[in-house]
Amino acid sequence: MSTTPTDKRARVFSGIQPSGAVHLGNYLGALRNWVALQHEADAVYCIVDLHALTLPKEPGEVAQGTLDIARLLLAIGLDPRACVFFVQSHVHEHAELGWLMQTIASYGELSRMTQFKDKSGRSTGFISASLFTYPALQAADILLYDTEVVPVGDDQRQHIELARDVALRFNARYGETFVVPEHHIPAAGARVMDLQSPENKMSKSIDSPQGTVNLLDTPKEIEKKVKRAVTDNDGEVRFDPTSKPGVSNLLSILAAATDGDPAKLADQYHQYGPLKADVAAALIALIEPIQARLADLDDATVRAELRLGAQRAQAIAAPVMDRAKQACGLLV
Ligand code: TRP
Repeated sequence: MSTTPTDKRARVFSGIQPSGAVHLGNYLGALRNWVALQHEADAVYCIVDLHALTLPKEPGEVAQGTLDIARLLLAIGLDPRACVFFVQSHVHEHAELGWLMQTIASYGELSRMTQFKDKSGRSTGFISASLFTYPALQAADILLYDTEVVPVGDDQRQHIELARDVALRFNARYGETFVVPEHHIPAAGARVMDLQSPENKMSKSIDSPQGTVNLLDTPKEIEKKVKRAVTDNDGEVRFDPTSKPGVSNLLSILAAATDGDPAKLADQYHQYGPLKADVAAALIALIEPIQARLADLDDATVRAELRLGAQRAQAIAAPVMDRAKQACGLLV
């Protein structure tokens, strides 16, 4: 995806749900890469609020979550002049093409989505039909922007494959309409594990407040969480994720925060205490400037950026929507 000034930059699309606090795993694993990519690619970034409604929400919850995450994304360095940055529900073409994609995706392929099976299996209460059809909306998100590359984690592989399959099927049935996107697992992304159970990824959905460093944590909270991080009893600092998951996670985090190499960093430590102190200091140095920028951003500024972003997004999406309506035989 590297580009020279003469070649066209690749269209990249990615989305994030406005639910839950953003933690270090989200930042080092994905969002920091969004910031880097906006200068290398023609990047479109979307807060996917319609996706958040697939699980029941309180009135007002999604709106607040959307503003919060928009503010945070601006604070980590998304530059609305370098990328297109907007909210899914502000561009009605998403819901509209989402419906058409439901007519192209099959019941059988949606039934095979492991995320649906996990989420519906875990739930004891209400399961909405949208939890089932959600990958069709995700396909619409991607296809509306003639997206070439979707940089998301491995957990989204099946959904991106579905987006490819529906694009190919639509094109075969109705003629060339959509660009067929490719999945790209960001290589630079660090895999950050839970500080209390380092065999699990740091996660929004698993409740582990002491194992999760949030971007809004105070320096004191960060120090405390890192100090109490689970390690092991052999006292040796070595990068070995299989037999030393806790220590290796600390080394990975330090490496990601300081642009270092975890195995090389291990040579500099002989005890866990100094390693933990350096991890905490590196995280505070990483997070403090983000929090400072966050404090400077008011809601009116955030809303104005999102309004502008929606206009720019719609300018790309509307012609693609028209193409799709025409192709599939609707009266236009
Ligand atoms: N499903 C993604 C997630 O849960 C979010 C998402 C929605 C997305 N639409 C997208 C990601 C389009 C990439 C492209 O993380």
